[in-house]
Amino acid sequence: MSVAAALPLGATASGYSFLGDLRAFERNDAGATASCDGAALRLHFVEDDVVRVTLLREDRRPRLLTHALVGREPDPVEVTVEQGKDATVLATAAMRVELAHRGCRMTVFDGAGHVLVQDDSGMGTGWDGNEVRTWKRIAGDERFFGLGEKSGDVDKRAREWVMWNSDTPGYGDASDPLYQSIPFFVGLREGRSYGVFLNNSHRSRFNLGAGNHRYYSFSAEGGTLDYFVFAAPRIAEVVADYTALTGRIPMPPRWALGFQQSRWSYYPDSEVLSLARRFRERGIPADVIYLDIHYMDGYRVFSWDPQRFPRPAVMLDELGDMGFKPIVIVDPGVKEDPDYPIAREGLAGDHFVRYPDGETYVGSVWPGRSYFPDFARAATRAWWGGYLARLREQGVRGIWNDMNEPAVWGKAFPNEVLMRDADGAADFKRMHNLYGHLMAQATYESLRAARPDERPFVLTRAGFAGTQRWSAVWTGDNVASWEHLQLGIRMMIGLGLSGAAFNGTDVGGFEGTPSGELFARWMQVGAFSPFFRAHTAHDTPGQEPWSFGERIEAVAADAIRQRYRLMPYLYTLFHQAHDSGAPVLRPLFWHHQDDAQAYAREWQHQFLVGRQLLVAPVTAPGVALQKVYLPAGRWLELGTGEVFEGGRAVTVETPLERLPVFLAEGGILPSQEAMQYVGERDSGTLTLDVFAGANDDGFDLYEDDGRSHDHERGGYRLTRLRAQRDDGVLRLDREVVHDGHRVPARMLELRLHDIAEPPVELSLDGTRLQDKAWHHDPATRVLSVRVREHGARQSLLARW
Ligand code: GLC
Repeated sequence: MSVAAALPLGATASGYSFLGDLRAFERNDAGATASCDGAALRLHFVEDDVVRVTLLREDRRPRLLTHALVGREPDPVEVTVEQGKDATVLATAAMRVELAHRGCRMTVFDGAGHVLVQDDSGMGTGWDGNEVRTWKRIAGDERFFGLGEKSGDVDKRAREWVMWNSDTPGYGDASDPLYQSIPFFVGLREGRSYGVFLNNSHRSRFNLGAGNHRYYSFSAEGGTLDYFVFAAPRIAEVVADYTALTGRIPMPPRWALGFQQSRWSYYPDSEVLSLARRFRERGIPADVIYLDIHYMDGYRVFSWDPQRFPRPAVMLDELGDMGFKPIVIVDPGVKEDPDYPIAREGLAGDHFVRYPDGETYVGSVWPGRSYFPDFARAATRAWWGGYLARLREQGVRGIWNDMNEPAVWGKAFPNEVLMRDADGAADFKRMHNLYGHLMAQATYESLRAARPDERPFVLTRAGFAGTQRWSAVWTGDNVASWEHLQLGIRMMIGLGLSGAAFNGTDVGGFEGTPSGELFARWMQVGAFSPFFRAHTAHDTPGQEPWSFGERIEAVAADAIRQRYRLMPYLYTLFHQAHDSGAPVLRPLFWHHQDDAQAYAREWQHQFLVGRQLLVAPVTAPGVALQKVYLPAGRWLELGTGEVFEGGRAVTVETPLERLPVFLAEGGILPSQEAMQYVGERDSGTLTLDVFAGANDDGFDLYEDDGRSHDHERGGYRLTRLRAQRDDGVLRLDREVVHDGHRVPARMLELRLHDIAEPPVELSLDGTRLQDKAWHHDPATRVLSVRVREHGARQSLLARW
């Protein structure tokens, strides 16, 4: 008898059929297939702590999605199977999956036997027509994070979230879905984490305890129920596992970490050039200027407006000479115009998506009636890429992909339109959420092929799980309001937890006009955002650093300069994201998972940048005193040098000029001189701000050439920096642990904080330092030491 038949009201009454009792069990290499009444469940371990669950329906051909996955051959996982009377247990070294024979209900345990994910005993897994769904027991304290680009709180519980890429200008805190779909979340139960990734691109829903107190569920309107459960008790490991599966960000060109200025739109060429000169004249660092849609001729992709930009290559050269890397917008819509070569070629080459009857689809967007490239076809990606390569040849340094949800006026891109995917034709029910992903792939791959020695830079609005492998993302058309500054921080946190480490907001807000105060506060947040770009709509006044008067300009310029000084630190964090999937901008609980306050709504706009910097931005007007929560340990406020005992909330002064940033005890913060743009010159000095204490966490500094792929072949330098302080002795060690990249000669400026008295002895590698090599300032409690960086190891010793 199946569970369905045993339910008092019967399964059919609900419209759903539920998985029934176990009929047969077949073991295979890294898992098993359980044949149950109604359908089969395939369990496959891809890692010790990752199981893939696939529902194989009798009446449906499984068509598993490959786009999100990197497709790496997994190492063989050792799985033991124990068949009992009522349940069968599959176990690896790190997790256990128990399959109850009755109803084929599944429970996932961590290695220590704690329940992480448990099928709802009544519903478990089911289907209704094309819809597939699974229901999981929700625990009282269960929290949910991630889901990519979502509105709402950092904790996504108690709402239902939809995955359907949508053009949503001026969205709000209740809007959903937005531009991107990343069907992955991190769950937390009794302090232990796990993750779930639904590998399905159809419109899907995550009900995280919305409208009920019994379950959370996830479902898709079509395709195969195919999901991965990550059984890692630490959040960082869950995200590492998820990004091992779906990929990590490529190392960006170092300049892409610089400040980027945009508006819709800067034109003509003379205005673009004078904007560039203005930055240099005012000494405000910047690396990128964007050209929005007005650079094109009637919004025809890959064209230049002959009046506004008569000699694009000359302008691009001049920008390049000033240290700017120009980026242009590239939207997918190709104008329907018989005289336009791209449209003609696209039709002749069969590059556009079509209706099932073969008619080419036409939708309306900026250029008017437009065709849409079929980026699922390799031939189309290559064709498109040829034009991108030409832009690169002209001097364009990066590509901004927009409107790729895909957006059409009226918003309903038809679902019956087909793309020709590698495994056959597929309609937009399946491909819609992948359109931006495939466009970003086309962009990244063709730029990389065109310049094999150069790192591409791509920015996209729409995306899916795995898009981080090709592109940075921004959070679309936000609004110039304090609510949006806050929402933007929460969205960056959510994106970072979902693999999209290179993310940011339109600083200052896209729609509307910020007050000077809001702009200043947003610039301060922007300086610590992974992607740092000011952008605004066509009908608004300028949103450049100097647009709000002198005082605001000074604040904005300071924020930007701080960003450039912190480049060695930030660049290392990007390498961490590339290497392990760790976000650059992290929620407090990333490093303080066991601290209940790290989850409090009150503190959800504070964030960590790397392990050791805590940023507590001001996100409301007129805040002269800000309450800040500091996790346990000691913290040094960088702006004032004041030291705070953590594990509690403290109050700090926050005049407009100050963004509270704290360095964790044990931390070592590398920085350099501010420059007008990345790579303007060698920084003659590497500064290390050292807050030594009992722990010696320190920092591993990553450096490479910032532009090529040599780092993939060992062309980088990794320097281990460690500091320790106890009983009147402070020791600072520098050790090059990987030496594959030559760093120009430089001085080390060591700034040892929280030092009340001058040392009685100070030595470098056993040799006493002369008095002029160091200086102690009792007012700031900083001991500064200046030495030449030399050799593979150096060790500074101070005694009191
Ligand atoms: C969309 C983009 C925005 C851009 C505008 C014009 O609204 O999100 O960033 O400026 O289109 O291209």
